[in-house]
Amino acid sequence: MVENKQTYATSYRSHALKGTPIIPGDKSISQRSLILGLLSTGKTCIKHILDSEDVQHTLSATVKLGAEVVQQKNGDYIVQGRGVGLLKKPQEPLYLGNSGTGVRLIKGVVASHPFDTILTGDASLSKRPMNRVTQPLSLMGAEFCSVNNDKEQSSYLPLKVIGARRPIPIEYQLNVPSAQVKSALILAALNTPGTSEIIEPLATRDHTERMLKSFQVNIQEEFTAKGAKRIRIKGHQELQPCTIVVPADPSSAAFFIGAALIVPESDILLENILMNPTRIGFLKALRKMGGNITISNRRTQAGEEIADINVTYSRLKGIHLNADIAPSMIDEYPILAVVSAFAQGESYFEGLGELRVKESDRLSAIVEGLKKCGVECHTQDDNLRIMGTDGNVKGMMGQEKIVTQLDHRIAMSFLIMGLATHKPVSIDDHTVMRSSFPNFMKEIVKLGGHIESA
Ligand code: S3P
Repeated sequence: MVENKQTYATSYRSHALKGTPIIPGDKSISQRSLILGLLSTGKTCIKHILDSEDVQHTLSATVKLGAEVVQQKNGDYIVQGRGVGLLKKPQEPLYLGNSGTGVRLIKGVVASHPFDTILTGDASLSKRPMNRVTQPLSLMGAEFCSVNNDKEQSSYLPLKVIGARRPIPIEYQLNVPSAQVKSALILAALNTPGTSEIIEPLATRDHTERMLKSFQVNIQEEFTAKGAKRIRIKGHQELQPCTIVVPADPSSAAFFIGAALIVPESDILLENILMNPTRIGFLKALRKMGGNITISNRRTQAGEEIADINVTYSRLKGIHLNADIAPSMIDEYPILAVVSAFAQGESYFEGLGELRVKESDRLSAIVEGLKKCGVECHTQDDNLRIMGTDGNVKGMMGQEKIVTQLDHRIAMSFLIMGLATHKPVSIDDHTVMRSSFPNFMKEIVKLGGHIESA
C-alpha cells in the first residue's frame, strides 16, 4: 500500500513574538557563488551558504559541469572551479528542482559552451516560461529544443540546450524586469568573444554584477537618470577565485518582519541582513505604513551592505505602491499582502504581472488565500487591492487549507497570517519551504509562535 504522508501545517493566534531568529543565507547570492565558483580557475570559499533544496540542486548542476565541491568541518564550502570555456559536458540531465534562478542562470552558462545540456525541473518549474531567456540566448547562437529535438517545443522544461559553437556578442534590452534573465545573459557573455551589452530599463537585483567584480572581472555599469542601466562585459576574462560571505536573506527575514508587525507586543531582532538597495523595497514600504523598524549596525561585508533590524508590533496604515518599486520587493508581495490585511484602510499595489510567473501564479494564490481567511481583496489587470481590517482577520473555518502549489513563499506567508487571525490558518504542504527555508517553522516556534505540523 502507498503511504499517504500528511504534510499539513497550521498556525494559531499567538502571544508576543520575542527573540532573535536565525535567518538563513541569501538564496540569490548562494546560488551565484556556486556558479561563479565553477567558472573561476581556483578554489572559491563560500561561508554561510544557504542550506536548502534550491541551492543543493544548483550545487549538483555545477558538479555535473565539472566543479569539485567539498564542505569543510567548519561548514564552509570550497569550490574548485573549471574556468570559463573549460566546462565538462554533463553526462546526465541537470535537475534544478523548484529553482527558477538555478535553471535560468545555468542555462546562460551552458548556452555559450559547445555541448548539449538537458535541463529539467519539478512540476512548478516545468510550468514557468523559459522564452524570456531562450530568446536572447538564441541571438547569441545557442539553440533550444525539447529532449526529442523538437524546436517548436522550447518554451518550457524539460529542455535541451545546444550550446553555441561560436557565440556572438549581443546588445539586448530586457523586456521584463528580471535579474534572472539579466544574469543568464551576463554569464553567457563570459564565454563569448567581444563585448556584450545588456540594458535594463528598471534596476533589478545586482548580485551577479557585484560578485563578478569580487572575482576580478571587469564589468561596467552605466546608469541613466531614469533608473535604467547599461552593462558592458567583455568575454574570455579569467575569474579569480575569492571568499564569499553570504549575508542573511532579506526575503526570508521579511516573514519575521511581517510576523512581528502583526502579532501584538512582539519585539524581535534580525541580524546580518542583506541591505542591497535592489532588495529593500519591502522595508521602505512598511516604514511608510507606520511599521516600527529600526535599522542599526550598518556595515559592508564582501561587497554588500548588511545591518541588524529591530521590529516591534505596529498599527499599520494601508499604502499605495507604484509599479516601479516592484523589482526591489518582487518576492515580498505575498507577505506584504498578508500584513496589509491587518492594516487600517485600503492597500493598492500596481504592476504585479511578474507575480503570475513565479513558483505559482502568486497573484491568484494571494487573492485565493486572503479570501479563504475572510479578507476582501481583488485584482484588476496586474494590480491588487486589499481592504485592511485593522487587526481583525477571521482566519479559516473547518477543514479548509491554503493550497501552496509548490510555492514556498505562499506557504510561509499564510502560516504567518495565522499567528494573528482569530481562527487558525492551515496550509496543505509544509515541505515546500525546503526550497529556501527548511527551519522556518522551528524558528517561529522559538520566538513563541504557535505552529503545528502533521
Ligand atoms: C532572483 C530573481 C527574481 C526573484 C527570484 C530570485 C535571482 O526573479 O523573484 O526569487 O536570484 O536572480 P526574476 O529575475 O525572474 O524577477
